[in-house]
Amino acid sequence: MTSSSFVPPRGDAILIVDFGSQVTQLIARRIRELSLYSEILPYHGVTPEFVSRFSPCGIILSGGPDSLSISEREAPSIDGAILDMGIPVLGICYGMQLMGILCGGRVVRSGHREFGSTTIRIEGSSPFFSGVWSKGETPTVWMSHGDKVESLPLGFESIASSANAPYVAFAHEEKRLYGVQFHPEVHHTPQGGVLIENFARNVCKARSSWTMPSFRDMAVGKIRESIPRGKRVLCALSGGIDSMVTAKLLHEAIGDRLVCVYVDNGLMRKDETEEVESLFRDHFSVPLDVCREEERFLSRLSGVEDPEQKRKIIGHTFIDVFEERALHHGSIGYLAQGTLYPDVIESVDVRGSSSSTIKSHHNVGGLPERMDLELVEPLRELFKDEVRLLARELSLPDRFVSRHPFPGPGLAVRIPGGVTKARCDILREADAIFIESLRRAGLYDEVWQAFVVLLPVRSVGVMGDDRTYAYGCVLRAVTSVDGMTAACASLDMKFLQGVANDIINSVEGINRVTFDLTSKPPGTIEWE
Ligand code: XMP
Repeated sequence: MTSSSFVPPRGDAILIVDFGSQVTQLIARRIRELSLYSEILPYHGVTPEFVSRFSPCGIILSGGPDSLSISEREAPSIDGAILDMGIPVLGICYGMQLMGILCGGRVVRSGHREFGSTTIRIEGSSPFFSGVWSKGETPTVWMSHGDKVESLPLGFESIASSANAPYVAFAHEEKRLYGVQFHPEVHHTPQGGVLIENFARNVCKARSSWTMPSFRDMAVGKIRESIPRGKRVLCALSGGIDSMVTAKLLHEAIGDRLVCVYVDNGLMRKDETEEVESLFRDHFSVPLDVCREEERFLSRLSGVEDPEQKRKIIGHTFIDVFEERALHHGSIGYLAQGTLYPDVIESVDVRGSSSSTIKSHHNVGGLPERMDLELVEPLRELFKDEVRLLARELSLPDRFVSRHPFPGPGLAVRIPGGVTKARCDILREADAIFIESLRRAGLYDEVWQAFVVLLPVRSVGVMGDDRTYAYGCVLRAVTSVDGMTAACASLDMKFLQGVANDIINSVEGINRVTFDLTSKPPGTIEWE
């Protein structure tokens, strides 16, 4: 089993056809927020036969980086018959232009490219604009396009225009086909969410079937059906919410045929192992296999400074430990992973070229091949915030559910240069002070992720009458929605000075504290 696709009641799903836009995922998110089910599929798999089988109540064609105005290049497309199947379709940006061409209109390169916030003018009324905009209004939307529809296809009418494009939105009301040149899925189009809701509910008549209680029942049922009696499932617990929720679903489904392994690799945060053990004791009736492997991980990391090397060594060492534990427990046929929907769709490249690796993210990916294990990934359809809802549905405590993300390679990627036990211990203490201060100040839930980075640089200081020569550290706090982009959190200077004092006064080995102002991009959230 490599996936566990949710099957919504027939006719209740919105199918999103991906043409490679950077923001396609946001369309799915907007729809899921309405408790409606949506799935993203790359355009090349979406044939009329597929659509009849999938039986969506509506289709959304995403934006994309290609141009339809340059005729000599093969631009991504779908079979135009899909637009004649009686299913409502909304085309966004590239999706609108493609709809225009497939229905007989013309697309040209625009003399004026429009990027960012743009004022448009509403030219007609439509159920798509219902309760949002009326004829004559001039709202602001977010644009990002170089091409535009120049001539309307037969049967379509213009429902919005801009200074540079006569057809910023068009509609064929009878066929329920709509196109918008702007992006309703991004936050910068203030009423975009309502437009998407209008399309989904008023035009497609989608009914709410996507709730966490229904997902939980479905996921548990599917796991039960797919794991044969006599076979056991190994679940690697990282201490994070994804693996814990995965384990909870499996536990409900297969009880004591679940084997949970937690590896203390010496790279965890302060008190992390004890917290995971206690949470596990309270919520599971199977034992947790805790492997104390600090020595093995740190000795393999000794002298290694290259970030990618560190990540690889840690990944391989995890696999070695899990392999040993799997053999020890016996009859393991499956490996459970907390893979999320963004991981699944990020791996789809609509143009078929491989995207460049910024960091090799850690999971236990090598284990299934080495051990001939099948994968169980019950969270494959979920976004991170949906996993949080599911965690609450599964009665996991709030303090755990709202914890900041923590990377698989742990503190190793927060210690640039060589990783040693002494450095990990210093970092653990400083990090705990920062996090506790954020909690006390009521700021912990305001930032998306916060942590300390220990620099491999020492500087001179003075404490009392003594000269010090100790490490510097960096406080990192970011706001983000999904970790893909991030901004430095604007923390109060007095607060930061208080944290710096506490760290310098209580952590031996640190005599200087700095604050990281970098956003992502151009930086990444972690330092390595
Ligand atoms: P970056 O540093 O790439 O991080 O901006 C984005 C988010 O991902 C987390 N992160 C990881 N999570 N395994 C994980 O499970 C990893 O190898 C990994 N590396 C980074 C990071 O903490 C941030 O939340």
